Amino acid sequence: MPETFDVKLEKKTYRPDPTYLEGSSMGDWETAYGRFMDDPEGFWAGIAGELEWFRKWDRVKEWKHPYARWFTGAKLNITHNCLDRHAAGDRRNKVALIWRGEEEGTERMYTYRQLHRMVMRFANALKKMGIKKGDTVCIYMPLVPEQIVAILACARIGAVHSIVYGGFGAAALHTRIRDAKAKIVITADVGYRRGKRVPLKTIVDEAVINASSVEKVIVLRRAKPLLELISEMEVDFDEVMEGMAPVCEPEVMDAEDPLFILYTSGTTGTPKGIVHTCGGYMVGTYYTSKYVFDLKENDIYWCTADPGWITGHSYIVYGPLAAGATVLITETVPDYPDPGTWWRIVEEFGVTIFYTAPTAIRMFMRFGEEWPGRYNLNSLRILGSVGEPLNPEAFEWYYSVIGKSACPILDTWWQTETGMHMIATLVGEPMKPGFAGRPIPGVVVDVVDREGNPVPPGIGGLLVIKEPWPSMMRTVHGNDERYRTYWNTIDACYTAGDLAVRDEDGYIMVLGRSDDIIIVAGHNLGTAEVESALVSHEAVAEAAVIGKPDPVKGQAVKAFVILRLGFEPGEKLKQDLIYHVRMGLGPIAMPSEIEFVTSLPKTRSGKIMRRVLKAKEMGMDPGDISTLED
Ligand code: PRX
Repeated sequence: MPETFDVKLEKKTYRPDPTYLEGSSMGDWETAYGRFMDDPEGFWAGIAGELEWFRKWDRVKEWKHPYARWFTGAKLNITHNCLDRHAAGDRRNKVALIWRGEEEGTERMYTYRQLHRMVMRFANALKKMGIKKGDTVCIYMPLVPEQIVAILACARIGAVHSIVYGGFGAAALHTRIRDAKAKIVITADVGYRRGKRVPLKTIVDEAVINASSVEKVIVLRRAKPLLELISEMEVDFDEVMEGMAPVCEPEVMDAEDPLFILYTSGTTGTPKGIVHTCGGYMVGTYYTSKYVFDLKENDIYWCTADPGWITGHSYIVYGPLAAGATVLITETVPDYPDPGTWWRIVEEFGVTIFYTAPTAIRMFMRFGEEWPGRYNLNSLRILGSVGEPLNPEAFEWYYSVIGKSACPILDTWWQTETGMHMIATLVGEPMKPGFAGRPIPGVVVDVVDREGNPVPPGIGGLLVIKEPWPSMMRTVHGNDERYRTYWNTIDACYTAGDLAVRDEDGYIMVLGRSDDIIIVAGHNLGTAEVESALVSHEAVAEAAVIGKPDPVKGQAVKAFVILRLGFEPGEKLKQDLIYHVRMGLGPIAMPSEIEFVTSLPKTRSGKIMRRVLKAKEMGMDPGDISTLED
């Protein structure tokens, strides 16, 4: 962990048109934050009261460091709030989901009523296959409506879902299936990406070998001719739904029952299965969707993430649906068949709220203004960003070229572990390029030194959260010790693992990770997982990876590799190793550079000092190297 350090702060401020603040559901930050501080529990109870519960809570919060329970005693089902609540009322025929496939003209729409019925049919199918409350279901699918149906059907019957991003390879999927002890894997034959088929089912075939918990694999068959299903284990998605009644009473869940597990990278060992629960997560994602995005009844809301990441869980599925929004999803990538694809979609569907990642914005900057310039983007109202720091250059471009200097830029800082937005500049408030903003009402953050003392403005330190919040993770699946570390590193605070600095107005600039997590194109990678993938190759004795700055992806993976005796370094071997990582973990984890070395810097206790490698790579001072072995 670094000492505190000075940071030169940008001074520019943009002020959105006053109508944004006048029309916002949250109102101004000072008043809303004050309302929260005056009565924190009353604040959250007020939000929770906007949703429907089968039984109300006895207490809003119970906190016994480091364990929180929210809305204790309450009973609910999140899908009741995402579906039944709307399907029974004025939103029955409102479009809940718009899907756009890769090929022009492939699109599907579902009203709340239709989505509700489909979810109930699939929920009945899962039940018939023996899945019940508390069982784990792994979802490994492309971004199609059936994925959303599968997710909600699990929640409907109280099964815990574990979604694995379709870009992950067989080894990564295998680890996650085993750790979660998934009983069912739901997949598709293929995903479509850049005009090619991604053979998801083939990856599942390999991933379920030696995963004895898996009883069935449900396959959505998209390609023609239909993929043949072979083993006893395999069943067709549409067939299992056939004849299922579109009525399935929601399982009555306790507020603290688990809703899902989602794996995120750790700095050591296997990925961490972050556990979120039903009640608090529902309240947190509903609140931020409605009040931070300031969702209005007629918004067409598009979050470009994938449900395989927390952004997709919270801001494609649960939050916006709980708030009754029209949600657009698409299987397209930004630059296929051409770099105008996403802007064409904005124009075609009249998207009003657009939520993406800085890496995408930087990619668009490289393609040039002419691409968005070809389309009418006037429907856009709010532009969101998430996943890594939105650097001032990207902010300026997003603001002027996409938002025509009229849309607020909503840079949201949060994590898989936090479940919901934590820091953002509320719609209508002054915006400062480079700064995510202030903690949203409901959240208490600070920037501190290693001892936990707050540091003054302009001095960088560690970002911590000082009070529990409803949608916080409850544990790390099967490893509570790892959960406790978040709350025990700095006394009584949640340590986010990020470095940050605050300005005089309390705006927070997030600078990046303070640990060995690498963020490539907004995807969180643990050095440990990439290193083990390298070491699993017969030629590799030892490996260390670091993140190197990359103009588009934010960071790129560079690997240092020590070869086993008998193996010769060379270009061919480099390509083999890159391919090996790609097959195991998927394209996102592929090193962009490999260097063969004969030793790695280590501490006396044998830990690789990636910080030293990184400093050397970037021609910087490695800092304190007193613990270096050699
Ligand atoms: O380093 C921060 C960065 O992404 C990390 C969390 O990654 P993950 O759990 O995968 O969740 C990503 C989507 C919420 C954080 O610790 N990060 C996320 N959003 C921002 C950010 N860094 C700076 N600014 C952001 N807006």
